[in-house]
Amino acid sequence: MTGFRSQLGVLAERSKVTEQRRNLQIQLCSLRDAMFPVDSPDVKDTDLTSASEQYLSSLQSRPSDNDWFELSQTSKVEITWNNVRRLRLFEEDGPDAALPALHPPDDPTQVVALYLRERWWPVEDILRTSSKSRCGLLLVQSLMERLVVFLLSQVVERSSQQGALFSLHPRTESCKLLWTDSQAVGFYSVKHKGSLCDGRSAPCYLLPVLDTVLVRRSWRRRGSALQMLQDFCSSFATEELLGLSAPLSPSMAAVCRKFLQQHEDQRERLYEVEAPGGWARRRNIWLNIQLGRYALRTEDV
Ligand SMILES: CC(C)(COP(=O)(O)OP(=O)(O)OC[C@H]1O[C@@H](n2cnc3c(N)ncnc32)[C@H](O)[C@@H]1OP(=O)(O)O)[C@@H](O)C(=O)NCCC(=O)NCCS
Repeated sequence: MTGFRSQLGVLAERSKVTEQRRNLQIQLCSLRDAMFPVDSPDVKDTDLTSASEQYLSSLQSRPSDNDWFELSQTSKVEITWNNVRRLRLFEEDGPDAALPALHPPDDPTQVVALYLRERWWPVEDILRTSSKSRCGLLLVQSLMERLVVFLLSQVVERSSQQGALFSLHPRTESCKLLWTDSQAVGFYSVKHKGSLCDGRSAPCYLLPVLDTVLVRRSWRRRGSALQMLQDFCSSFATEELLGLSAPLSPSMAAVCRKFLQQHEDQRERLYEVEAPGGWARRRNIWLNIQLGRYALRTEDV
């Protein structure tokens, strides 16, 4: 009888442990689901790519099983091999990093969701954060933050006529993301003085250059680009001259005009440059504005 009781005790103890484990797993799962990809522990390019390849080959080999991704209450896209493509994240400057992207059947250039961490994520959720400390202009460090820059530069503001606004960034590009109201609303990237112009061979940039800058359409005309330009200028406080990659878009030229109207001390400092930025390949932006060399149009608002 005593032996039987102690056996019962062991069984009860085991089931308590199993229960605790299960609760812990549920808590971990809900914690995982509460986080957006950018808030989750970072992954390596190689892990990301191998998980993507595995998923793609499983998708290719399995029969269509009526699996749908809901875009809204009224629209959905079937998750089949035909509606999924492999999206490369960076310029070809190192190990490949790619993700499966879901697109509407009639438009493979659009992306509605990305496959990450064993599930499909709507693009808008990948641009969100649940971290209160992710606010303002922050240096891009993790692979998931690089994915956010990729989505802003290649996917969400892509126009059907012109395609993406910029070419792919290199894997190690120096970028800052602007986080407002728990979402990524813009970014800028910098070519550092001394860095290789094409990433592989000489020549090197002769001054720091603000290379690409973008603000999401729905967030434009609220001073975000001014904030980024100010941040760029103060980040290189000891540099006598700074560049902005040529050609300036009409709206960026308008941003520069407003910025230089407000900051007279920067007028002799900012140049529109072509790589590598030597004297023959740079023009003073304030002087260009005075000479009316920019078309300060409003069409890309
Ligand atoms: C250029 C861009 C980054 C500007 O971002 P933004 O956050 O809207 O700019 P800001 O709100 O800081 O604008 C500051 C000032 O610049 C001027 N300005 C900005 N965009 C303008 C536009 N489209 N037309 C006229 N003036 C404009 C205005 O004077 C504005 O001040 P105001 O709104 O008080 O009138 C944004 O339009 C964009 O992402 N465009 C597409 C990508 C691009 O062109 N990048 C630059 C490559 S060189």
